[in-house]
Amino acid sequence: MIGITGATGGVGSGVIRHLLAAGREDLVALARRPEAVAPGITARRADYDDPESLNEALRGLDTLVMVSSDGTAETMTRHHRNVIAACPADVHIVYTSILDIAPDSRFYYSPGHQETEALLADRPHCLARTSVFADFFAATWLDDAARTGELALPLGDGAPGTSFCTRDDVARALAAAATARTEGVLDLTGPEALTGDQIARAATEALGRPMRYRAIDDADYRARLAADGEPAWLIEAYASMFRSVREARFAAAPGDIERLTGTPPTSLAAHLRR
Ligand SMILES: NC(=O)c1ccc[n+]([C@@H]2O[C@H](COP(=O)([O-])OP(=O)(O)OC[C@H]3O[C@@H](n4cnc5c(N)ncnc54)[C@H](OP(=O)(O)O)[C@@H]3O)[C@@H](O)[C@H]2O)c1
Repeated sequence: MIGITGATGGVGSGVIRHLLAAGREDLVALARRPEAVAPGITARRADYDDPESLNEALRGLDTLVMVSSDGTAETMTRHHRNVIAACPADVHIVYTSILDIAPDSRFYYSPGHQETEALLADRPHCLARTSVFADFFAATWLDDAARTGELALPLGDGAPGTSFCTRDDVARALAAAATARTEGVLDLTGPEALTGDQIARAATEALGRPMRYRAIDDADYRARLAADGEPAWLIEAYASMFRSVREARFAAAPGDIERLTGTPPTSLAAHLRR
């Protein structure tokens, strides 16, 4: 039996969709709001902040697709500790970690993913390290840039770029890894690393609206987010992600998506066209 956390979210619901399409019926959707899980599949209440619910929900699984949690880094890491503590030791855990996992990373979420990976070390596990989600980048930055015509971000002046991957490709790869009980480390990336100019060009062509990239520096970006009233942790999360992009920590491509699933990863332009 395969359990999937974050079953109401973009990645978790995608994993369920791909497993169902592959003919798996022994699935358990794990969610803090089981009533929000799509019908046709067993759903159990699993609130990351309610260890008792996790103990109940994780019973009887062979495999757990553990989609990482969100919020502040402290919240995310606490949630992961709770899930792993509640999960029986023989369950194969496929965990969505992050591509920027190096110990010297200054990405806001990296220490939490490092700690979670360490907690999984003595269990059967697969670490699926994801690059930046194309969908997340589009919704958070490209939609506005398409309206104004300018993508002003601290992505740097050229290479190395970002190897965006789509949530759906990640979900497809996680479903394949869970089915095959893949062990070890996977890099889930897009087909290529795109610079700021290349992102703007891809968006211009895909969306049919002119967009130019303008490199801004870290301080200006942080000041803009602060002026928009964003909380300090989110400013750190976004600004440190872009610093990692400039440091080539999200540039690896292509990763393991095609090897795992038999289908090449979707490009940013193709994702935007859809
Ligand atoms: N690589 C990237 O670019 C990138 C970008 C953004 C996020 N991420 C990471 O990737 C993960 C998956 O992305 P996504 O797009 O699927 O996120 P999403 O759509 O926001 O889904 C997050 C899921 O986590 C669940 N959740 C939150 N708090 C919970 C709790 N206390 N107990 C149980 N479930 C809880 C949510 O449940 P509800 O529906 O009840 O809220 C939802 O199902 C994120 O959580 C984050 O760790 C990566």
